[in-house]
Amino acid sequence: MELGVPLPRRPVPGTYGVPFISAVRDRLDFYYLQGQDKYFESRADRYGSTVVRINVPPGPFMARDPRVVALLDAKSFPVLFDVAKVEKRDVFTGTFMPSTSLTGGYRVCAYLDPSETNHAKVKQLLLSLLVSRKDAFVQAFRSNFGALLDTVESQLASGGGKSDFTALNDATSFEFIGEAYFGVRPSASSALGTGGPTKAAKWLLWQLAPLTTLGLPMIIEDPLLHTLPLPPVLVSSDYKALYAYFAAAASQALDAAEGLGLSREEACHNLLFATVFNSYGGFKLLLPQILARVAQAGEKLHERLAAEIRSAVADAGGNVTLAALEKMELTRSVVWEALRLDPPVRFQYGRAKADLEIESHDASFAIKKGEMLFGYQPCATRDPRVFGATAREFVGDRFVGEEGRKLLQYVYWSNGRETENPSIDNKQCPGKNLVVLVGRLLLVELFLRYDTFTAEAGTKVVITGVTKAATSVVSRTA
Ligand code: HEM
Repeated sequence: MELGVPLPRRPVPGTYGVPFISAVRDRLDFYYLQGQDKYFESRADRYGSTVVRINVPPGPFMARDPRVVALLDAKSFPVLFDVAKVEKRDVFTGTFMPSTSLTGGYRVCAYLDPSETNHAKVKQLLLSLLVSRKDAFVQAFRSNFGALLDTVESQLASGGGKSDFTALNDATSFEFIGEAYFGVRPSASSALGTGGPTKAAKWLLWQLAPLTTLGLPMIIEDPLLHTLPLPPVLVSSDYKALYAYFAAAASQALDAAEGLGLSREEACHNLLFATVFNSYGGFKLLLPQILARVAQAGEKLHERLAAEIRSAVADAGGNVTLAALEKMELTRSVVWEALRLDPPVRFQYGRAKADLEIESHDASFAIKKGEMLFGYQPCATRDPRVFGATAREFVGDRFVGEEGRKLLQYVYWSNGRETENPSIDNKQCPGKNLVVLVGRLLLVELFLRYDTFTAEAGTKVVITGVTKAATSVVSRTA
């Protein structure tokens, strides 16, 4: 990215094709014929540009207008973080928006533009909640995921040498988040019992179906998931049960919400959304991805992680403290690298607030007011012009040291640079620091127990073996 060299101006290349027909055809390419990465990369190649006009799914009949300007490199992408330039109203899920009857009739925080007064109030509520619970995270994580690893070990010992981490994580993350945020385990709620994760997964599907494939044959799945919304009434009893948990467990946070000028009801729907959609939906994807990447990286990385983690914990008197975690530079780098390669939220949208100029590495493009801008994160965070020849590889220590730290500004998973922070004035994820903390805690839990482990990664991540540490390095509950 040279400074001071004027870039040539180009019209944004690409075509949307024939209305309706091309949008459906592109949707099939995206889901079934090409796959996501190839869908974007092939179009960038065809037009010789990383800023290109593209239809995005789901298209008809779900979305009124599938036409976007796609930003597929690390340089153009960050315009989406600039809320002075892009409008973020109702674009959280892109060119369609799920019915508000799935969220109690409210447009929840993720759909609000910072210019709307409730955005600041709800975001403040969430940021304050996370700060107030900071000391609860480590203990809640360790007890829940310690129990998960006990189960892994007994499953490996008893049946066929395999343990489905994805399934165990689905149940455990749900309990962990409830306990960490509100001090009440969801399974203790009479409305939910152990059914919370299933109800949550169903409610998530009702919102994300247009952006999802379940691996069914195209001819069944495309009309079922991508053409018309699933009827909200079929998930309303699940939502009511989730809501009952929050109304009871989050009473302190709801008191705080009233102090900020929000009604208890609006605050409760927002807490539910931030906990179940944003947090649970995120951890469902992220933790298996971290596990898979680290398993594939192999024993050498495992040795280095175990040494770093055990020595920091030993220095802290055998306790996993926040200060000990701060010393684990390689561990944190591994989490950032997993977030860089596999950003759990791959799509970001924003509508141009005024005519503006966007620059890729090679050219400058004029965008008209009202055009929809779309960023495909994996293309931006695997940009070889920033991350070099290893851009598509997992390099665990990429962000270690002074040189490594310089690359952090190009890690975008939180809808902002990793060097910046969420605030009430921007749209960066308020869970940013918590997410990196939880990723590190997963590695800490693993490598305090094991010298190495193996796992298979496909549609789910399955642990196939663990080698226990020779000596116990830490008290399990510290
Ligand atoms: C927003 C990612 C966890 C709450 C966002 C956005 C992304 C993101 C990309 C911006 C979406 C957009 O505007 O286009 C993730 C990932 C997570 C995660 C990958 C986990 C792996 C969490 C957690 C919370 C949270 C733990 C807990 C509070 C939110 C909220 C917003 C948001 C409320 C909307 C922010 C606003 O309107 O200003 N997240 N997030 N997320 N996230 Fe997260």
